[in-house]
Amino acid sequence: MTAPGNADSNDRLDAVREYWNNHVHDWKVARSPAGTPEFFEEIEAYRFEKLHYLPLRVDFNGYADERILDVGCGVGNDLARFAKGGANVVGIDLAEHSIDLARANFEQRGLAGHFEVMNGESMSFEDDAFDLVYCHTVLHFTANPSAMVKEIRRVLKPGGTAILMTVNRHSWLNVTQRLMKIEIDHLDAPIFDQYTYAQFQSLLEPFAKVKIVCERFPVPTKVHKGWKARLYNDLFVGPFNRLPHSWVERSGHHFLAFAEK
Ligand SMILES: C[S@@+](CC[C@H](N)C(=O)[O-])C[C@H]1O[C@@H](n2cnc3c(N)ncnc32)[C@H](O)[C@@H]1O
Repeated sequence: MTAPGNADSNDRLDAVREYWNNHVHDWKVARSPAGTPEFFEEIEAYRFEKLHYLPLRVDFNGYADERILDVGCGVGNDLARFAKGGANVVGIDLAEHSIDLARANFEQRGLAGHFEVMNGESMSFEDDAFDLVYCHTVLHFTANPSAMVKEIRRVLKPGGTAILMTVNRHSWLNVTQRLMKIEIDHLDAPIFDQYTYAQFQSLLEPFAKVKIVCERFPVPTKVHKGWKARLYNDLFVGPFNRLPHSWVERSGHHFLAFAEK
């Protein structure tokens, strides 16, 4: 299953695959049985409430007839938005469970898409195959992010764009998590690297032009309960979001890069 490489990196990828086969992203917010239409709707509603910046930053309807690849597509909800906008979409993921769910998601929505279990660090696609490569919440979880970035650039057409997200090491969420000792998702993943702005810039060096924005500011939590959650929801979220944006801009929990080949 794993592409040729050294034994250590193959072991690391096997651990990543095993973890994500058992921890499908945002799974725990769904109340409905896995794989049902309601299950995908619940995960999508949660995601786009938490990441309300996504449709503002990413023009999901702007790629009609273009070829889009989603690396580490999970259950395929973002890719479904591109597909609804008329794009020809391909989703890959290291975890078979995600790919099975992504296929079911598309089938139930009546959308066309091609899905494969594949390692984003070593893809079987030809050079210059896609107009857009999308990769959200994946780079910090993979064994060799630099190999993934090089592969993404390779499969992108000249002049094409990659939209790449990772986690900001110095974010408001990390500070809150340390101060309040709250759980954040996937801290138990075998690999969870977080980046400074400069480290992310240097990871993206293979690209000709890169713009990085900081996003993901506080929204009320739905997954935590008890007094900490009440304190956070009632006394933190509102006042934080009323601070001048220029004061907190660089503390966004997500770095979102638009990188041109
Ligand atoms: C946090 S989930 C994100 C899923 C989806 N992109 C989203 O934003 O909801 C991380 C996903 O990346 C996948 N992944 C991690 N390393 C990968 C790799 N080397 N190649 C392909 N997929 C990978 C995992 O299997 C998992 O489904």
